[in-house]
Amino acid sequence: MRLLIVGGGGREHALAWKFKQSSGISELYCAPGNAGIAELATCVPIKATDLDGIVHFACAQKIDRVFVAPDDPLAMGLVDRLEEAGIRAYGPRKAAALIESSKAFAKDLMRKYKIPTASYQVFQDTEAALAYAEQASLPLVVKADGLALGKGVVIARTRAEARQAIEDMMLNSRFGQAGRTVVLESFLRGPELTVLAFTDGRTIRPMVSSRDHKRSLDGDQGLNTGGMGAIAPGAEIDAAGWQLMTDKIFQPTIDALRAEGRPFKGVLYFGLMLTEQGPYVIEYNARFGDPEAQAVLPLLQTDLLDIMEAIAEERLAEQPIIWSEHSACSVVMASGGYPLAYQTGYPINGLEQVPADCLVFHAGTKRERDCVLTAGGRVLAVTAVAPSLDVAIRKAYDAVQCISFQNMHYRQDIGKRT
Ligand code: AMP
Ligand code: GLY
Repeated sequence: MRLLIVGGGGREHALAWKFKQSSGISELYCAPGNAGIAELATCVPIKATDLDGIVHFACAQKIDRVFVAPDDPLAMGLVDRLEEAGIRAYGPRKAAALIESSKAFAKDLMRKYKIPTASYQVFQDTEAALAYAEQASLPLVVKADGLALGKGVVIARTRAEARQAIEDMMLNSRFGQAGRTVVLESFLRGPELTVLAFTDGRTIRPMVSSRDHKRSLDGDQGLNTGGMGAIAPGAEIDAAGWQLMTDKIFQPTIDALRAEGRPFKGVLYFGLMLTEQGPYVIEYNARFGDPEAQAVLPLLQTDLLDIMEAIAEERLAEQPIIWSEHSACSVVMASGGYPLAYQTGYPINGLEQVPADCLVFHAGTKRERDCVLTAGGRVLAVTAVAPSLDVAIRKAYDAVQCISFQNMHYRQDIGKRT
């Protein structure tokens, strides 16, 4: 089978690493990929959002399967386009990907189907949003409706901050079209947890849990980023806890999407807040998280191709899925300045010093002759797997110590309990 992965970050490198182990795959391609992925797959310089380019390449190269990993092409309907061209694509169609690409849609779905989530209102009118913010309880959470690289959320602790956030999004177009509609919602307290799940639209099979670290600095200080590191499992959850989440959140979400005529096939991401009142949904994503994938996929023992085929053929209920009992820690090494402005093009040193049992997933990198250079905000995700989380953390940081590039920045506290 000839498989094309769409995307070019750390998540896609982890996917390429996993698919490379599938005996059913004869050729692996990635668009656009990066320097790390290029060691495993043939990288083609087509942007993930160039739908025409990808469909054309897939047809011309007789690609059998396409895994669409990032949010933008899913929201734009790449899966639909590939299916129309007769190519099996892994990921939700556009109608189902709306659960990520419109927070207003996701919130309304949860309200309608009684899935626990923070109370909220949706606004298209700036004056009405500002008036609501004047009397809402604080902190108030202000969210841009559309995709904003994980950065379209402001936790406003004062009225002035709430006003500023609403004006930035609705009047000053800080997130472009994505912020024309805003969701204002109440603030939830508790530890956060990510649960990724495989689903064929009817059956939902949660993966091991994970935990992202969204803020740029240690101790959850600094700006929100795409994610600075992840661990898996993300929390110790007993059988009753899993059952509760399945009954209240996972299964109702899949059933709701099907009932709305938007059956979801692929990987569904549940961003949860474990409050004293039980688990609440903070957000859905229509795909693997980044960097959660870099911590979760190394714990998956089953062939990922088999699982994706079972999803496509709607027989996920019968598909064995086996997880390692070990823990994983993935530390993101970023360009100094990220998530604001940063410089790239610096040589990355020490990659060959990393112990063989650690995984260095490339995110923003490119190769120039014999040199691997930084080429993005998040540069690498360094993952270690070990029988305990503490050892996984230590191994990941030992590997990080081997690597250096100018202006590098990483958090020292990935996986530490806060
Ligand atoms: P989102 O992009 O919706 O995941 O939001 C980004 C981050 O903002 C989340 O990971 C949470 O840390 C925080 N957040 C979002 N919504 C809420 C909420 N209702 N209460 C508390 N924190 C929130
Ligand atoms: N790590 C969060 C995300 O992928 O959206």
